[in-house]
Amino acid sequence: MALLTSGTKRKKSLPWTCLIPCVMLLFAAFFIGSAFIVTECKEKMLGWQLIESFRMTKPSMCEDECRPEGSETLPRGIVAKTSNLEMHPLWGPPNKKKSKSPMSLLAMAVGIKQKQNVNEIVKKFPETDSVIMLFHYDGIVDEWKDLAWSSTAIHISAVNQTKWWFAKRFLHPDIVAEYAYIFLWDEDLGVENFNAGRYLSIVKEEGLQISQPAIDADVSEIHHQLTAREKGSRVHRRAINIKGPGRRCYEDSTEPPCTGWVEMMAPVFSRASWRCAWYIIQNDFVHAWGVDFQLGYCAQGNRTTNVGVVDSEYLIHYGLPTLGGAENEKSSLAQEKTLKQESLSNEGQTGLPESHPSDARNAVRKQSLVELERFKNRWKKAVREDQCWVDPFQQPVKQKR
Ligand SMILES: *[C@@H]1O[C@H](CO)[C@@H](O)[C@H](O)[C@H]1NC(C)=O
Ligand SMILES: *[C@@H]1O[C@H](CO)[C@@H](O)[C@H](O)[C@H]1NC(C)=O
Repeated sequence: MALLTSGTKRKKSLPWTCLIPCVMLLFAAFFIGSAFIVTECKEKMLGWQLIESFRMTKPSMCEDECRPEGSETLPRGIVAKTSNLEMHPLWGPPNKKKSKSPMSLLAMAVGIKQKQNVNEIVKKFPETDSVIMLFHYDGIVDEWKDLAWSSTAIHISAVNQTKWWFAKRFLHPDIVAEYAYIFLWDEDLGVENFNAGRYLSIVKEEGLQISQPAIDADVSEIHHQLTAREKGSRVHRRAINIKGPGRRCYEDSTEPPCTGWVEMMAPVFSRASWRCAWYIIQNDFVHAWGVDFQLGYCAQGNRTTNVGVVDSEYLIHYGLPTLGGAENEKSSLAQEKTLKQESLSNEGQTGLPESHPSDARNAVRKQSLVELERFKNRWKKAVREDQCWVDPFQQPVKQKR
C-alpha cells in the first residue's frame, strides 16, 4: 500500500488482483530491468486506458482507490466481493438466523457406501455454526434425502471426481470467505472421539492455521508418525521418529512430515490459510499427492508453530479405498503389516495400504505416484523461475533447490 501511494498514476489504476504481483513486477523490473516483465504489465495496462479517461473527471481523492478487477465501472457500495453457501427461502424472512459465532464449513467427498459413517461425521458439527457441503463422486444424491440434515446441506454431484477436484472448483476462497475454518475431509473417518466445537476452540487458542485431529494409532493405520495421537496431550506440532517406519524425524527436524505438516485425509484450514492453499491445488492433478508437503507455505508464518495435530479431539482412519477402487477387506492388522513393509520401501510417501489391489486401485495408485513426481517437478520449476520468491523456510546451512 505504501508503495502504491508513491507510485505513478498508471500504477494506481491497476486492478486489485494485479496489485501485489504488479507492484512486485514493477519492483523487479526496476532493479533487474527485464524487458519481458515490463511488457507483461504494460499489456495489462492497455485495457485500462478507457477507464483512465473516465477517471479524469473524478476528484483526486478517488485516485488511490482499489476496486476488484472488473468492477471499476460500478459504484463501490453495490459490489459484492465475496459470497457464501447460505441457502435462502423463496419468500418470507431468511432461515432461522445462524448463531453469531464464526461459521465453519465441512466439505466432504462422499459415496453412498459410506452413508452411515458420513452421517456420524456430520452430526458432530453443530448445526447452527456449520455449513455442510457434500461432493457426491458416485452420482447418487437422492438416497441421502432421508437424513435429517440432508435438506440443509449443499449437494454437488460429479462422477468419479476427487475431493481436490471439487475443492478447486467449488471452494474458491471468495466463495468461502465467510467461513472461519474449512474442514476438507474424507469420508472414512471415525468420529467417536471428536467434537467440532471443542476442536475449534482448541485450534483458535493454539493459533493453528492448518491442523488435523490426531489419528488413533491403536485402531488406524498411521502413515506418518506426526499424525498419530499422543495420549494425554492436547496438541502436538512435531514428531520424533528415529527408527521408522516412514521418514526419520529428529528433535531438530524442521521439515515436513516431521513438523509443519498434516495429512490430506482430514485437514482443517483457517480462512487465510485456505486462501493460500487453494492456489497450490493444481487443476490437472486429481489426487493432489505432494500438496501436503507444501501446505506449510500457507501457514501464515512459522509452519512449526502454526501447523499442528490436535490430540484431545481425534479420529479413527479406516483407510478405505473409497473412490476408484474396490473395498479393502483386509483386517486392520494385516493392513498395518503391509503398510509397514511398504513405508520402509517407499519412504516419505503418503502410502496407501496394499492388498491385492483391484485394477482400478492399482491404476489410481500409479496415477497418484506419477502426479506426485510431476507436482514436485512443477514446484521446483516454479522456484527456479520465480526470481522474486524467497523461501521463508530455507535452511541457511543446507540450501535446497
Ligand atoms: C519457528 O518456530 C520454532 C518453534 O517455536 C522455532 O524453533 C523456530 O526457530 C521458528 N522458525 C523461524 C524461522 O522463526
Ligand atoms: C467411475 O469409476 C469406476 C471405477 O472406479 C468405473 O467403473 C465407472 O465407469 C466410472 N464412471 C464414469 C462415469 O466414468
